[in-house]
Amino acid sequence: MRERFRVVGGAHLRGEAAVVGAKNSALKLMAVALLAVGRTTLTNVPAIADVTIMAELLRRLGVDVVYDARLGTVVLDVPERIGHRADYELVRALRASISVLGPLVARVGEADVAVPGGDAIGSRGLDLHAAGLEALGAQVHVTHGYLVATAPSGLRGADIRLDFPSVGATENVLTASVLARGTTTIDNVAKEPEIVDIADMLVSMGARIEGAGTSRITVHGVDALSPTEHAVVSDRIAAGTWAFAAAATRGDIEVVGGVAEHLRAPLAALEDAGCQIEVTARGFRVSATDRRPRAFDVATLPYPGFPTDLQPFALTYNAVAEGSAMVTENLFEARFRTVQELARLGADAQIDGHHVMTHGVPLLSGAPVESSDIRSGAALVIAGLVAEGDTLVSGVHHIDRGYPRFEEAMRALGADVTREPDDAPFDEV
Ligand code: UD1
Repeated sequence: MRERFRVVGGAHLRGEAAVVGAKNSALKLMAVALLAVGRTTLTNVPAIADVTIMAELLRRLGVDVVYDARLGTVVLDVPERIGHRADYELVRALRASISVLGPLVARVGEADVAVPGGDAIGSRGLDLHAAGLEALGAQVHVTHGYLVATAPSGLRGADIRLDFPSVGATENVLTASVLARGTTTIDNVAKEPEIVDIADMLVSMGARIEGAGTSRITVHGVDALSPTEHAVVSDRIAAGTWAFAAAATRGDIEVVGGVAEHLRAPLAALEDAGCQIEVTARGFRVSATDRRPRAFDVATLPYPGFPTDLQPFALTYNAVAEGSAMVTENLFEARFRTVQELARLGADAQIDGHHVMTHGVPLLSGAPVESSDIRSGAALVIAGLVAEGDTLVSGVHHIDRGYPRFEEAMRALGADVTREPDDAPFDEV
């Protein structure tokens, strides 16, 4: 059944929002578990639809997966013999499925992974993944929509330089190299906290890794890894969502479980714009109750730069903040679908190539809008709170992919957000 959120405008969000483990880490850590025979347990796993899809993908590889969304645990029993094929049907639903590539080549010597679709956020190549695996001695080609990587006699260490610090390519090259013979150096890698989380889990499994979180990772290959228990790193994008929700609605939210250190660029920008930011014992707090904060320029960059996943929130914020500002998207082309929907709500925003110029208005005007991916959906709910009247946000399944019970978390902060059937009489054309 299709669902939508009905958002009643006018709330200033106040109170606590809890943040648990990161979607973009949990999914990858589930794939990492493939590297060791036996039982691996993940904790602090978010209750989101994407974990269910990843669990199904791993089951089809022969892994026994028990996901307890309420407890936030995933228990994976990995047998000696596992499959090597990730079907299009699942990969198209979850682009993060590509993260089984590295572990499968390392463990099985072969991976057939459908070339993913996933979020509608611009074209995303796999050339860096392929080049990295080839440098480790794998043969890689695409056939019938599948990326096929084979290394029948195992992988061997190599010196690799990524042309761009891709998160996914860093992960696949790292997870492939841990069982390679000899030493691998990977230069120009992604430095995201999720990469550090993967490296931490691999080390707890017996891998020998140095430099995660810097631009160069060194891996000394080992013969085998052991299963482990690991808590997923806090979700910085969910935490950032609440930070922008507080700022845009002129509210006051303590993000419990949030790590301010992982959000230095966005929190510094919010502080400069007139919000109060405070690190607390349980996380951090963002308050914008004193006055309407100022709009600010944003250019998305690889970590520690401003995260592209928070760009729709920056746009929403700028749409209602004081003054004019420019948002520049440097990571993904065509990731501006929020803009046309914000315009439906009365935002003054113009796209020019990979820039969006906004002139803030004090209040938007409620209307039906459509979310096109996880973050744009959540951003539109926040926009609806700063609109006069009701906003109907369709495509709630996108939001459910990334936020555990988003409407309940919103209601706990004083917002009037309800889930209801989406009875639109016509499908999108
Ligand atoms: C991950 C996140 C996503 C986030 C992104 C950037 C997950 C599941 N998703 O995506 O939410 O927005 O990091 O922080 O963790 N590229 C290539 N060739 C490659 C690989 C990437 O050209 O082989 C390009 C992509 O087209 C894109 C850019 O590099 O323009 C960034 O991609 P990447 O860092 O790999 O992002 P993902 O891992 O896909």
